[in-house]
Amino acid sequence: MISLCISAVVLAHAVAGFSPSVKGTPEILGLAQDPSINRDSCGSTRFGNRAFWTCRDSQPFDTNGTPTLPIYSSSASWTDFGSDGTPELVEIDSAHGVGLLMYGENNEQPFYPMASDECSSNTAGGCDDGSRYAIWPDSPPLITTTNSDGSIVAYTWIRQEHILGLTLINDESATTLYRVDYDGSSSSALPTVTLVKENFFTADQFPYGHYGGVVANGYAYIYGQNSDYVVAVARVPVGQVEDASAYEFYQNSQWVSTHPAVDADGISISASAGGQGTYYYSEAWERYVWIGQPALNVAAQFYITTSAAPEGPWDSSVQFYTGVDGNYTLGAYSLQAHPGLLANSSQNAIYLSYTKNDLDAANVNVYTTPLIYLEWE
Ligand SMILES: *[C@@H]1O[C@H](CO)[C@@H](O)[C@H](O)[C@H]1NC(C)=O
Ligand SMILES: *[C@@H]1O[C@H](CO)[C@@H](O)[C@H](O)[C@H]1NC(C)=O
Repeated sequence: MISLCISAVVLAHAVAGFSPSVKGTPEILGLAQDPSINRDSCGSTRFGNRAFWTCRDSQPFDTNGTPTLPIYSSSASWTDFGSDGTPELVEIDSAHGVGLLMYGENNEQPFYPMASDECSSNTAGGCDDGSRYAIWPDSPPLITTTNSDGSIVAYTWIRQEHILGLTLINDESATTLYRVDYDGSSSSALPTVTLVKENFFTADQFPYGHYGGVVANGYAYIYGQNSDYVVAVARVPVGQVEDASAYEFYQNSQWVSTHPAVDADGISISASAGGQGTYYYSEAWERYVWIGQPALNVAAQFYITTSAAPEGPWDSSVQFYTGVDGNYTLGAYSLQAHPGLLANSSQNAIYLSYTKNDLDAANVNVYTTPLIYLEWE
């Protein structure tokens, strides 16, 4: 009887202290790359039998392979899978070698359109006074509906960051809701994007959604982060994403219907290491997972934390992988996990990427997206 009790206690501890550990040496697969586009900060999700990627600032390469104008504030692309269900690695071109070929019709236009008061007369959101509306996705679209014909509805929440250089002019930003509609076709055309509502969340409300999300139990759980690096979560039934009154917010350990202020107490859930990353649900672990970067860090140092429920409690984050930084001062950022690249939900592994930022011989920033495959014990 006594020994039974002891083993039950030990088991409870083992579950609470779930700690992922890496099996063997992670494999660097090459770059995720469109040969004609220099693109910053890419993330992906699974759209049918392809992966769908969204990125921030994108620009064409000139004939010498140097990034040139115009800059457009977001782009999107497809990548393919091979017959074994793993991401298809091909020779991209002589400059980029073997990797995951990104393709799609961007036409040098922002994938996420800017509103008319966001200096939208140019594709970068640049204003006459030298400031900029940086309409940059922090996360790939969150899929809320997949229909039997293969069509998909997904959503992206983007903060209206108004910047001068890389400094925010407004401490907090309103959040725009975008809807992404994919018709299920296999063409290189991109899905349709609609700006649902510019100030879906106002600047004085906590900015849920941009920081990532996961769908579970009929809800979209969406995470946000304010300028003090507080992470909080809201949820909305998957069919009611466009109805701001249908959202509930996790505050003081319960779901409430009043939208917390951007600096509200009782909403922090410490569900990350503080920087950019990815939330997903791991079938293999039966746990919610966040993988990404610590706050104010610009190195390819990947951290992980997991939880039994989307709202937590989340474990302390731990570092599990280090990639090669770029040689620019902001050498590595936008660390991402890519659960949509896995062949199936029982594969106990994850794909990782980050933006490696290098200065080329002409002192121009070149962004690349190294893709890493890592197995867990
Ligand atoms: C899942 O994918 C892995 C990797 O391709 C493969 O080895 C495994 O057999 C697949 N499992 C199922 C149940 O399809
Ligand atoms: C930085 O890295 C890029 C890409 O590898 C390379 O072309 C460039 O020469 C490097 N610059 C310095 C100063 O090392």
